Amino acid sequence: MKTVAGALLSSIRLDRTSRVSVSVQLYQALRDLILSGGVGAGQRIPATRTLAKELAVSRTTVIDAVDRLVAEGMLVSRVGSGTFVSDTLQAPRAVPEPVAARRADLPEPRLSYTIRHAGKSLAPRSWLPHRTGAFVTALPALDAFPVAHWARISARHMRGDRDMVMGYGEPKGFSPLRRSIAMHLKALKGIECDPEQVFITAGAQQAFAHIGHLFLNPGDRVWMENPGASGARNAFLSEGAELIPVDVDGEGLVVEDALRKAPHFRLAFVTPSHQQPLGHVMSLARRFALLQAADEAKAVVVEDDYDGEFYFGQAPQPALHGIDASGRVIFVGTFSKSLFPSLRLGFMVVPERMIPGFDRLFASWASGPSTMVQAIVADFMDEGHFATHIRMMRRLYKARYEVLMTEAQGLVGALDVQPTSGGFHTMAHLAEGLDEAVVQEEAAERGLTLTPLSRYCLAPIRAAGFALGFGSATPEEISLGVDLLRELPSLRAKLV
Ligand SMILES: Cc1ncc(COP(=O)(O)O)c(C=O)c1O
Repeated sequence: MKTVAGALLSSIRLDRTSRVSVSVQLYQALRDLILSGGVGAGQRIPATRTLAKELAVSRTTVIDAVDRLVAEGMLVSRVGSGTFVSDTLQAPRAVPEPVAARRADLPEPRLSYTIRHAGKSLAPRSWLPHRTGAFVTALPALDAFPVAHWARISARHMRGDRDMVMGYGEPKGFSPLRRSIAMHLKALKGIECDPEQVFITAGAQQAFAHIGHLFLNPGDRVWMENPGASGARNAFLSEGAELIPVDVDGEGLVVEDALRKAPHFRLAFVTPSHQQPLGHVMSLARRFALLQAADEAKAVVVEDDYDGEFYFGQAPQPALHGIDASGRVIFVGTFSKSLFPSLRLGFMVVPERMIPGFDRLFASWASGPSTMVQAIVADFMDEGHFATHIRMMRRLYKARYEVLMTEAQGLVGALDVQPTSGGFHTMAHLAEGLDEAVVQEEAAERGLTLTPLSRYCLAPIRAAGFALGFGSATPEEISLGVDLLRELPSLRAKLV
């Protein structure tokens, strides 16, 4: 019987700077050698003392690795004769390549009819950014987040009532947080609601998914703003809904267009406080027209208020939910913009008559966000830090917006940057004859992020342009960003 060749042993590389212990590295290396057939079934491996000497590690380290392989049945110890690769490992198996490298060739299992049908229409959310700067959309000013208050409150909860914050928690969300949200909405949005109407979700996205589960059947028609948000679109498509792209103008969703296209609809999705991405506020007349249409069709309206806390001028219009007399509007909010997105914390306020249905759904899933996070946010709100942060961010976003609007005068002729009344992005229309993809690529080469309008479109529209985010960028980054835009070859040719 041969012993393992020294050459094979020398193929073992141990990284002493790694966070993975040397013993685990040795275990993994020996296991890979065995599974790949580098050391065949029945072969004896060198004595632990020899291995330790060859590899310049302690004998205990080697014994740990070998014992683990013996426990897993890959090695067999025979008293008096040594340690051998198990005879059961007859056929050498190739060490698989990482999954990422094989993904394209993996045979896909048969997916559900609904998901196959939704197929390519599901827009990737992978483009949601995690790096701040000009002109990133969807990220708040992470540089201005009051981390000290957050750290103090979270440390307090770590030391506090463990049963409360470490258990499974209440299915519909931590009740102190639901109470704080109800109070916040009354002050900010004129929404009078009972905390029982508030359901905590893992971001607005999970609220859309729950709403889809509860109300949509395959083939149901859903009015979607076009251009509009892709996250909600994906949630409804995943239920097999038929999405109806509805025009949007300066007053918001064009209800007449929607009625013409699909008078019988089950659900309407709107962003009335700040249309995503165009930035218009839905007029009061449109709000009432939408509510009337929904009432006639016995449909549900989803009001997505993703950045409604941040307005620059006068106080915003009352929420649709607040003027809904028929119990049809579900108000969806998120902490992704008012605090930060990795929290994965959102909520919805449902009409009273929908409480039992949502209660049943949430009780059967019970998989919302961490109670620890919910408890921290509840205290953050109750101690007044949330309201202070919102007030400060309103001022900060307004200042950053003003820098963008001033600088944007230098883009006239090429990019027409639109005024907006709040939030932390605004639309910039591209001059006739310019191509979004070309401009986006030229910008990317200079390290600038541009989000094209086409990315929001369910059906093609005539306009072209970009949603320019200014919230997460410092004034210097915004000025530099505009300078870089002015240098893009295709834009430079159009500047006046
Ligand atoms: C229209 C819209 N709604 C909601 C959200 C927030 O989603 P979430 O709470 O899942 O982060 C976003 C994020 O960019 C959005 O664009």
